[in-house]
Amino acid sequence: MTVLMRKMGPFETSAVGLGCMGLSIEGKPDEATGIETIHQALDAGCRQLDTAWSYYESGGPEQTNERLVRTALDSWKGPRSEVLVATKVGHYRDFTDGRPTWAVDGRPESLIRHAKESAQALGVDTIDLLYFHRPDPKVPYQESLEAIRSLVEEGVARTAGISNADIAQIDMARSILGDDLVAVQNQFSPTFTSSFEELRHVADLGLAFVCWSPLGGFRKAKDEARYDPFRQVAGRLGVSYQQVVLAWELAQDEHVFVIPGAHRPGTILDSLQAGDLQIDREDMERLGR
Ligand SMILES: NC(=O)c1ccc[n+]([C@@H]2O[C@H](COP(=O)([O-])OP(=O)(O)OC[C@H]3O[C@@H](n4cnc5c(N)ncnc54)[C@H](OP(=O)(O)O)[C@@H]3O)[C@@H](O)[C@H]2O)c1
Repeated sequence: MTVLMRKMGPFETSAVGLGCMGLSIEGKPDEATGIETIHQALDAGCRQLDTAWSYYESGGPEQTNERLVRTALDSWKGPRSEVLVATKVGHYRDFTDGRPTWAVDGRPESLIRHAKESAQALGVDTIDLLYFHRPDPKVPYQESLEAIRSLVEEGVARTAGISNADIAQIDMARSILGDDLVAVQNQFSPTFTSSFEELRHVADLGLAFVCWSPLGGFRKAKDEARYDPFRQVAGRLGVSYQQVVLAWELAQDEHVFVIPGAHRPGTILDSLQAGDLQIDREDMERLGR
């Protein structure tokens, strides 16, 4: 298998990354399986790991996913310097009505503190790519972005990204972060295409568009029938429908990346093959948007 590589700012990294969230939040596998999943992904050529300060179980110890990524990288025998590790600040886990939820905190002082804790948990002086995870309605977006800029200026992060951002926010981030902004990570999948305008805008700016929950999320696809045409193409090509979904996303533009989640090695090993899969024009039309 040849792994498709694409340019993201100063990095050359795999177009299919590993979304590490599921390895440390509710429903996570045991730690050994988590590490094995990351190792096998890296061995197969994956060069992008996506984590966040907030990827831990509600009520449990914080930053467990960043620590898992570090443990996996420390014990991996391959070329560590080739691996782009992206993390995010701006979210934390909370309980609302006794249910685990995701809360936002975009205050500059929180972002700065959390980013430094992320670097520490990852065991690096400089984070490769630091995303601002989600706009905080209680904090002017500009103020959160200025905190991210100060983190790049200080050397805590090499490059910056934003996540869950609309077009106006993307433009504001461009004006505040300039060329240090290299990626926008938004939800995009066959069951979530409303971010296509943002995908186009980001690609036209020459930035990376990273699709989160590219397979519709690990709990349950909201609209299973939407995946039927992907199953049909997959049946004809003799591959999993998930590979077809990921290849369809990568075919939207050369600036697109996908970070499918996995709870075990088998799924990410299959997903990595999507970079190799060519979907012809008729099938792209059949799959629609
Ligand atoms: N920026 C944000 O706000 C944000 C929000 C959510 C997620 N994310 C990022 O996006 C990443 C992925 O999202 P996600 O995990 O929610 O959803 P996802 O990638 O859409 O779906 C993951 C699910 O798909 C299954 N799967 C993956 N590849 C497969 C394959 N080739 N064949 C069959 N099944 C396959 C996995 O199965 P198994 O469980 O069997 O392995 C898992 O249950 C997260 O890890 C995180 O890094 C970012």
